[in-house]
Amino acid sequence: MARCLVTGVAGFIGCSIAAALLARGESVRGVDNLLTGKRENLAGLEAMEFQEGDLSDAGACARACAGIDTIFHEAALASVPRSVEDPVSTHRNCVEATLNLLVAARQAGVRRVVYAGSSSAYGDTPTLPKQESMPPNPISPYAVAKLAGEHYMLAFARVYGLETVVLRYFNVFGPHQDPGSPYSGVLAVFCQRMLAGEQPIIYGDGQQSRDFTYIDNVVEANLLAAAAPADKVAGQMMNVATGSRITLNETFAILRELTGYRGEPAYAAPRAGDIRDSLADIRRAEELLGYRTRIDFREGLRRTVDWYRGRA
Ligand code: UD1
Repeated sequence: MARCLVTGVAGFIGCSIAAALLARGESVRGVDNLLTGKRENLAGLEAMEFQEGDLSDAGACARACAGIDTIFHEAALASVPRSVEDPVSTHRNCVEATLNLLVAARQAGVRRVVYAGSSSAYGDTPTLPKQESMPPNPISPYAVAKLAGEHYMLAFARVYGLETVVLRYFNVFGPHQDPGSPYSGVLAVFCQRMLAGEQPIIYGDGQQSRDFTYIDNVVEANLLAAAAPADKVAGQMMNVATGSRITLNETFAILRELTGYRGEPAYAAPRAGDIRDSLADIRRAEELLGYRTRIDFREGLRRTVDWYRGRA
């Protein structure tokens, strides 16, 4: 019987966590509704039990949670602009899904739930770096939905004693991130376009900055959060990032070296709901989890470009 459940397992972060768990010899179940997840991301995860199911369905949640000890909850509609266009489906797939999962987890006697939170919860406040003690200020429906999920996690820890841990991810990137949708993360889109010799589009002046976090760091944080003593991490929320930031213009310049792309970017109007700058204080994760940034931005970007090149 599987002991670990990864939700959103056909997505980029979910499949990466599942692969790491299998490599450690864990027994793993994955669930995905394949709305944005891709079956191709399940390649190499054959040792995992896969359930196709939607977490907005209570029955699917119960089946997914049966016999499980630890859940890594990655399932979401991970996009700010998508939520601006269709806030209701973001709510259903982020908030309702999370609440249903928590109810089923409690019923099934799950011990711990590690939740994929989002740095978007901090909103567009000028103070950097973002510290967990800052009041949340979500400015997009996506940010509201991911933050609501956080609150449910922390409430289930307080009220029912479920060991929930919230990891607030900052702009995760790496192999398996889908470049093919208008809602895709910027680095996946830029890697794919620049390798294909196509002009990338920068929304705004390109001086917006992000704490781009390579996937291996996020996987590591999840494994640490699953293993950490309950008295340290249950009911806690912490940033998972690198603690450094880079602008889109600088990122474009590095990608030009790595991909061999010769052109300039096109500039277009800024996107609604976008935040300007993002940078994490990662001391809480360092202290509570022993988390360290293992792979820095440049090395992560090099590995990512290599992965997309191999796919082209
Ligand atoms: C991302 C995540 C979100 C996460 C949030 C905070 C994705 C799809 N979204 O949102 O889940 O919660 O970080 O960590 O990974 N841009 C361009 N050109 C493009 C695409 C984007 O200039 O072709 C710009 C955007 O306008 C934005 C920046 O790049 O200013 C980053 O965009 P994106 O990768 O979508 O990430 P966030 O909106 O920061």
